[in-house]
Amino acid sequence: MPTSAILAKPRKDAGWWRTSVIYQIYPRSFADGNGDGMGDLQGVTSRMHVLKELGVDAIWFSPFFKSPQKDAGYDVSDYKDIDPLFGNLEDFDNMVAKAKSLGLRIIVDLVPNHSSDQHKWFQAALHSAPGSAERNRYVFRDGKGENGELPPNNWESVFGGNAWTRITEADGQPGQWYLHIFDSSQPDFNWENQEVQDEFDSVLRFWLDRGAAGFRIDVAHGMIKVAGLPDVIHHSSTMSGQDSPDDVKTTESEEELIARLEKENPFWGQPGVHDIIRRWRSILDEYDDRVMCAEAWVLPLSRMARWVRPDEYHQTFNFGYLETPWNKEKLEKVVTESLEVFGAVGAPSTWVLSNHDVIRHATRMAYNQIPRQGDGVGPNYEQPDEARGQRRARAASAFMLGLPGGAYIYQGEELGLPEHTTLDNKYRQDPTFFRTKGERVGRDGCRVPLPWEAGANASNGFSTTGESWLPQPDSYRRYARSEQEGTPGSTLELYKRLLKERKAFDMGNGEFRWAPEFMNENTLAYINNGILVLANFSGDPVVIPAGEILVTTQHDLRLEGELEHDQVVWIKL
Ligand code: GLC
Repeated sequence: MPTSAILAKPRKDAGWWRTSVIYQIYPRSFADGNGDGMGDLQGVTSRMHVLKELGVDAIWFSPFFKSPQKDAGYDVSDYKDIDPLFGNLEDFDNMVAKAKSLGLRIIVDLVPNHSSDQHKWFQAALHSAPGSAERNRYVFRDGKGENGELPPNNWESVFGGNAWTRITEADGQPGQWYLHIFDSSQPDFNWENQEVQDEFDSVLRFWLDRGAAGFRIDVAHGMIKVAGLPDVIHHSSTMSGQDSPDDVKTTESEEELIARLEKENPFWGQPGVHDIIRRWRSILDEYDDRVMCAEAWVLPLSRMARWVRPDEYHQTFNFGYLETPWNKEKLEKVVTESLEVFGAVGAPSTWVLSNHDVIRHATRMAYNQIPRQGDGVGPNYEQPDEARGQRRARAASAFMLGLPGGAYIYQGEELGLPEHTTLDNKYRQDPTFFRTKGERVGRDGCRVPLPWEAGANASNGFSTTGESWLPQPDSYRRYARSEQEGTPGSTLELYKRLLKERKAFDMGNGEFRWAPEFMNENTLAYINNGILVLANFSGDPVVIPAGEILVTTQHDLRLEGELEHDQVVWIKL
């Protein structure tokens, strides 16, 4: 049984970001304003009121900057402009104004680890000589082997294959190699270079001056590479360098573990990154109330907490939590650990279950064995049990949204959208699919455009024309917003209720403790600001304790007041 000690206490100085619920918009798939099948900023502006009704505090946008879209916008060719696919800077300003009128904040995505190969700096590097200032903004090296025909080291791309590509020099001869931890269209910047650092200072200021409430920082633990670029010692399939959260040698101290991971993975989570973070933080601190949230896949959580010390990032996505299955013991462990390690550095935990890189949790939780990070589910894979996924996902969301700290919601999860698991390969766009020759189907299945009005057209109202850059699965008609709005028991109404009560009882800034007195071997219970959150994981129904039921995932609560397996209830004691 867990301890009943108080693990989180309310803070007097709780800035908005410590407790906020932030909604992630994936711009190409939220709403299409011009009928071309690609979501855009005007589409977002016209539909934004529904996010206010949902009850979120802010919106984080995946990149909408100028980009050849080789990695859906995470390959930026101009950091200070909007890609015409999504609109222009005026559309951005209008969107910020609309958000402001609704009391919502806008967070933009900063992609500092790499640019697009079409960025003017990379083009200049290609056309300059080895050793030139232009090349020195990126990571160019001579190859190994007699004629430089072998890559400079053994690093692998996160998307599969080699992390180096050889270029042709001005004289037509095969020349140097450049580093790309992701796709070959995404060359890594050289963050040791002052010019790169200065340029990003100005990018930060550009968006802060334009009204952005802050940044989600892409690959926030990348950027710095160990000097000399030594070989990777242990190839990991994940961005944390750990194959699984359990990849810890029992004899290792925390310091030994961290030192080992830094050594094994010379481009992830290096200590030098902290200097960059502090530099950015000092810029944000010149403005009111701005925030940075790190995409830092560094585990264990005690290591991740180093990224959110008082003068570093404000938040970091709790990927340890995201990777935790719907399991009583594991959830108890990760919540306790999160509150302890983040609490120790004065940071909130930032809970999250889904985003544009992982299998949607309504599908992920239908499986016993969770597929690895960055993978998707394709038509030839074992297909998920939809009902089980729905039940567990609703329960997992209700469990998460009662926890103290911040929370992130990925567009469509409030509709209970499942992953598109039968997407035909001909539609795939994720570089992972191409770089692994289809061995990993990649992330397109969680990026499918949202269904708004059931049956309005082929894209269920995502666009006026029915066009849609990825087709929706048939089931999306059932999940469309129009089917759920005002429908008792729908996932959308459940989320609205959860967010309303969370706010009403200030649970984001709550006093939290486990409540063993309400648990049995199949249940987990906690109390946050006087609200009991009880989850039944398996086995027999349990009697619901006395009190006012605020919200429950089980819309047909039995007359006797019993909570079934994979259900959650919030009770005001
Ligand atoms: C981050 C993004 C992901 C992108 C990668 C490279 O992990 O979330 O979508 O592919 O960085 O920028």
